[in-house]
Amino acid sequence: MGFMDEVRKAGKEIKRAFNDILSAPFVKEMCDTCANMYRLGWDERNGGNISYMLDEKEVGEYLDLNNVIRTIPLMGVNAAEFDCTPLVGKIFIVTGTGKYFKNVKDDPETNLGIVRIAPANKGVELLWGFKDGGRTTSEFPTHMMCHMARLKVDPENRVIMHSHPTHTLAMNYVHELDEKSFSHTLWEMCTECIVVFPEGVGILPWMLCGTNEIGEATARKMRDFRLVVWAMHGIYGAGKTMDETFGLIETVEKAAQIYMLTAHLPRINTINDEDMKKLVELFGVEYRKDFLG
Ligand code: 13P
Ligand code: ZN
Repeated sequence: MGFMDEVRKAGKEIKRAFNDILSAPFVKEMCDTCANMYRLGWDERNGGNISYMLDEKEVGEYLDLNNVIRTIPLMGVNAAEFDCTPLVGKIFIVTGTGKYFKNVKDDPETNLGIVRIAPANKGVELLWGFKDGGRTTSEFPTHMMCHMARLKVDPENRVIMHSHPTHTLAMNYVHELDEKSFSHTLWEMCTECIVVFPEGVGILPWMLCGTNEIGEATARKMRDFRLVVWAMHGIYGAGKTMDETFGLIETVEKAAQIYMLTAHLPRINTINDEDMKKLVELFGVEYRKDFLG
């Protein structure tokens, strides 16, 4: 290759154009979901957090994957006790700690970040976002533990979502926190509940958030459930897509709302177990049989 060819080639490489990250479908999905969650009253102030595993090739259309802006250490975990080897190199778009869901849509570059999991528990490499020096949600280690747990059960899992939905929380104060009875009550509240979350919901007692312990306990529950209630705090959801994950939490919240609207009134009617069995048989879904009857 002659000198001028070399110059032209170098010029082409320098000019390699990236698409505008703000037009990326995954950024839009994060913005829309945070806005919806805020609108529904699930995420006051900085309450809640989302992490969404992205396809490296797709991200590469928008960002230079060799350009690491800075490395961010993980908060609240003892690195020696936390092994995230299966996620090394994976890229996530994630909400920032202390950031308000209310503000994400108008300023995604400050409130969201795109990060790649660094090797050897060295935290995460920032590829975009957190432009005011922000960091990943304080619950990112819990999210990572949940991603690892769900990927073992469902290799297509991509989303972990945490939220403080009002009626689900209210129900925590007045309903016993036993997985079978809580799940059964939710299933009774809307006909489609047992079809949407046939495995029921897992429940953890009140625990300190942002720690290894709650992360490990949530991830253990996520082997059996896509929904885990954190008593008197909120809920975790997991799914293949943003819609699936949002829809799971939305359905629990709707059921909890109906429960809270009726719990103090005499109950005259209900959906009985025989009817629920007919439903799951019609839809052909596997369900937690020991949660019925
Ligand atoms: P972050 O602001 O760190 O995401 O925490 C919010 C939250 O809901 C804690 O449980
Ligand atoms: Zn929370």
